This record gives sequence, structure tokens and C-alpha cells, in this order.
Amino acid sequence: MKAAIVGVTGYTGIELLRIIQGHPQLSIGTLHSSSVHKDTISDEYPHLRQLIALPIQAFDPEVIMAENDLVFFATPAGVAKELGQAFAERGFPMIDLSGDLRLKDPTVYEAWYQKAAAPQAMLAQATYGLPEFMTEKATDLISNPGCYATAALLTVAPLVIKKLIDPATLILDGKSGLSGAGKNLNESSHFVNVDENMTMYKLNRHQHIPEILQQLQLWDPSITDIQFTTSLIPVKRGIFMTGYAKAAPGVTEADLLAAYEEIYAQQPFVRIQPQGTLPQLRQVIGTNFCDIGLGLNAGTGIVTLVGVIDNLMKGASGQAIQNYNRWAGIDETAGLWSLPIYP
Ligand SMILES: NC(=O)c1ccc[n+]([C@@H]2O[C@H](COP(=O)([O-])OP(=O)(O)OC[C@H]3O[C@@H](n4cnc5c(N)ncnc54)[C@H](OP(=O)(O)O)[C@@H]3O)[C@@H](O)[C@H]2O)c1
Repeated sequence: MKAAIVGVTGYTGIELLRIIQGHPQLSIGTLHSSSVHKDTISDEYPHLRQLIALPIQAFDPEVIMAENDLVFFATPAGVAKELGQAFAERGFPMIDLSGDLRLKDPTVYEAWYQKAAAPQAMLAQATYGLPEFMTEKATDLISNPGCYATAALLTVAPLVIKKLIDPATLILDGKSGLSGAGKNLNESSHFVNVDENMTMYKLNRHQHIPEILQQLQLWDPSITDIQFTTSLIPVKRGIFMTGYAKAAPGVTEADLLAAYEEIYAQQPFVRIQPQGTLPQLRQVIGTNFCDIGLGLNAGTGIVTLVGVIDNLMKGASGQAIQNYNRWAGIDETAGLWSLPIYP
């Protein structure tokens, strides 16, 4: 199959290109962006010189549908819900990496994104693509989860599903590398403000809060809200998610780990740490893995969770390809089997 990438000049778009270039059953058809229209993509990105010579074209749904089998949207919030309508209406397969189609309730999207929501028909058609917890086959319109949401949900899921914690005590605290904010430079992404520094941002306002809540409520409808914080750390890639919650009475650390081993037993991209060890950010960089570890404090009864992902891989483009693989009915790991970049 051939895929178009809309937003190829952004961080997740260029990562999609990298993965698809090594994919055994998917190849690049056409590349699109809004402002950059160069003869070839390597004119914009020299690291691709002598590797990929495709032009970057203006967005045109007719060209995309004529020359491809599906389209990826790697564009800022607000774009796919408009430009994607042409594909949704014609049933042309589309995977959206933005937040436009993740929230089922349009009023929630409008409150958290401060934009008009996608048409109701599009929202109803979209499948929320967290592969490890999809219960039905995806539709032709897949909404790829957010990076923080992916890390938070995978890290806490077994404890919520198996009722091993008191969810009212759950606190999730995510730290992200700078590529999570996209390629545009601003004051908070300035090298001088990021290097050797750490900044908490969007306190109680992050747009992934309703997304995490929406999925948690499918597992436990008694959950009415969550405590979730986000910070920037001086790395290029990676999300380091910590979670804290009161364990259910009588639960041991071995019980908690056994729940993770059971729930993720068939999932190729979730790795559970051996007891007594926690994952480091670096061990997943450049891969589609989510690595999870935990410890239970016997005195306080608090379980501490650590989950790590590469925000551009499992948090975005890698997961989008995982969703493609599952949708296409091929090996879920196709094109995604790379070793972490180390050191
Ligand atoms: N970065 C992450 O770690 C991450 C993780 C998960 C999800 N996401 C989501 O993925 C999406 C892309 O993120 P990103 O970090 O890759 O953003 P980015 O680096 O800012 O790139 C955005 C891309 O979208 C293009 N674009 C903007 N408006 C467009 C339009 N109207 N028509 C066509 N193309 C348009 C831009 O083209 P120009 O170059 O021409 O401006 C650029 O190629 C966002 O919705 C983000 O929330 C990001």
C-alpha cells in the first residue's frame, strides 16, 4: 500500500516518513505540507539527501486519493477535522495523529482545545486507536492517541482494570522532551530556557486530561476526574510518566506486577520491568516500546509507577504505524522492530 503524509515537515510527519521507509508492506506515495513546497524533501531536510527524492506538495485531497491507499494527518489540532472531511465522506482510510477526533463529546473538545469540534458524523466514525486496549477492529478513520495519554493509560491500566488501587488517590505526573511541542520555536522552547532547566506547564489545563479520563471511565465508570501534571525536561525525545496511588487493602507488590504481566502478555510493545527495577527514558528512545515498572511502599501503602515511551514513536508515529498494521491485518510489529538508540 501507499500512504500520503500531510504535515511531513513536522516532527511526527518526518518520523512517519522514517518508519515507512523501512516498512516491508507500506511505502510513501505523496508528501504534503502547508507552507513548504520544495522540489524534494531533502532540500528541506538534508539528512534525507540521496535517500528520498519525493517533492513536498500542496494539500490536494483528489491527488492524495488518486495516488495513495491511505492518508496520515500529522498536523496541528484543528487541521484534520477540516481537511480530513473529504476523506471521511468518501470512506478513504485516514489516521489522524492530532487531538481532533479523540474526544467523543464535541463540547469537551471545544472546552479543552478552544476550537469548534469536528462534525458529529466524523467523531462517531473515528476509532480511538490505543492498540493494546482496542476491543473491536478499527474503522477506516483512526484517531491516534496523544503522547502523554498513551504513556499515562498504559502505565496505569492494569491497576484500574483489576481494581488494585483506589482511583480517587491516583496522581499522574508526566515529563516530556521538547519534540513533544512540535517544531515551532517559542519562548518556552528556546534553548536557553530549556537547557539545564525543568518547567511545569498547563497546570490542570492540559488537553490530554479529558482524553485520559475518557478512557479511564471505560475501565472504571466511577472515576469522575483525574489529577495530571505535565513538565518539560531538557531532552529531545521521551516521556517519563510517574503515577502514585493508594493500593487496595491486602495487595502485594507481586500481585501488582502479576496484573501487568497478565494484561500485557500478548502485547509486543509493552515490557514490564523485573521486580525491584524501574525503567529509564533512554531504554525506549527510537522504539515503539512502553516500558513499565513499579514499587509498593509497605508502610504508606502507596504504589509508585514509572512508564516511559518515545513521544515520537509509541506516543505518535510508531503507534500510528502499529494502528495501520492492525487495520491492514498484517503483523502488528511490521516496520517497528528497531533496537533502542543507545547511548
Ligand atoms: N510531537 C509529538 O511528540 C506529538 C505526539 C503525539 C501527537 N502529536 C500531534 O501530532 C500533530 C503534529 O505534531 P508535530 O509535533 O509533528 O507538529 P509540528 O512539528 O508543528 O508539524 C506540523 C506539521 O503540520 C503542517 N501543517 C500545519 N498546518 C497545515 C495545514 N493547514 N495543511 C497542511 N499541513 C499543515 C506543518 O507544515 P508547515 O511546515 O508547512 O508549516 C508541519 O508539517 C499535532 O496535532 C500534535 O498534537 C505530536
